[in-house]
Amino acid sequence: MTAPGRNGAGGRIRQSSATSKSGVAWHTGPQQRLSHMMAPKKAALVTGGANGIGRAIAKHLLASGWNLGVIDLPGSGLRRVFPPASRNMLTIEGDVRDEETVSDAVDAIVHRFGRLDAVVSNAGIMIRKPIRRLTLAEWHRVIDTNLTAAFLLARAAEKPLRKARGAIVTIASTRALMSEANTESYSATKGGLVALTHALAISLGPDVRVNCVSPGWIETKDYGALRRKDHRQHPVGRVGKPEDIAEIVAWLLDAKCSGFVTGANFVVDGGMTRKMIYAP
Ligand SMILES: NC(=O)c1ccc[n+]([C@@H]2O[C@H](COP(=O)([O-])OP(=O)(O)OC[C@H]3O[C@@H](n4cnc5c(N)ncnc54)[C@H](O)[C@@H]3O)[C@@H](O)[C@H]2O)c1
Repeated sequence: MTAPGRNGAGGRIRQSSATSKSGVAWHTGPQQRLSHMMAPKKAALVTGGANGIGRAIAKHLLASGWNLGVIDLPGSGLRRVFPPASRNMLTIEGDVRDEETVSDAVDAIVHRFGRLDAVVSNAGIMIRKPIRRLTLAEWHRVIDTNLTAAFLLARAAEKPLRKARGAIVTIASTRALMSEANTESYSATKGGLVALTHALAISLGPDVRVNCVSPGWIETKDYGALRRKDHRQHPVGRVGKPEDIAEIVAWLLDAKCSGFVTGANFVVDGGMTRKMIYAP
């Protein structure tokens, strides 16, 4: 196993894999050589990138020319979705709840690409249970995955992000603003993310912009199986797709487009949170 070589200064990166002290395994692409004259491409880290919205964000950024690190759990399908043959990619298997894993992931990206310009805290889980049956361990699992991980990542990435004058995007939910029953832990984390976002925007500005995207219903599985009424209840006439979120995340990460935007929460829900639903 070979540690990835530093990029951006004519260094050689070999097809390699490595494991850090925290057990994080990362996989780099094939051998490449960069010229000293070549401006290094921007690099981003996306959490929970093996599936759903995170995968769409990662693919969108890759297609837009970013170097990319993606972290997801072992067994999440990360290697299948992003085969290690891509030289612009670093796939990292690990758990974003773990402090050392997160800081190793940041180090691995800076080591591999020579910089870190953007972080997307997307990994998230929901446990839907009546509060009387929700255990403290389950509560902590949701808080740690959805909220604490975003704090760990922002803290670990502060230095390289400041240096790059970069950006953070957190993925919250319209459930930060409205609720169905039995979603206390999830909703608490999403409200927490909206607040963490504006706190970070103030603390890390003007070097780093920090924004939040709150998706509504984004169908990540079988879009074709949705019913007409699923689509028609939305003011825009359709259910959301992962690419709807990827588009706005990419815009928020690009200072040329969104350089005057920080601390904001963007609701991307086809208008559902603007619709009154009192029974006639
Ligand atoms: N899909 C929606 O309708 C919707 C709506 C609002 C908000 N969101 C939010 O968007 C984000 C992505 O949702 P999705 O629907 O794509 O979910 P998903 O379940 O399809 O994907 C989530 C990914 O996060 C990974 N993950 C979970 N725990 C992890 C951990 N501890 N460490 C590393 N990776 C971990 C999973 O393995 C998975 O690949 C989540 O934060 C979710 O709360 C989704």
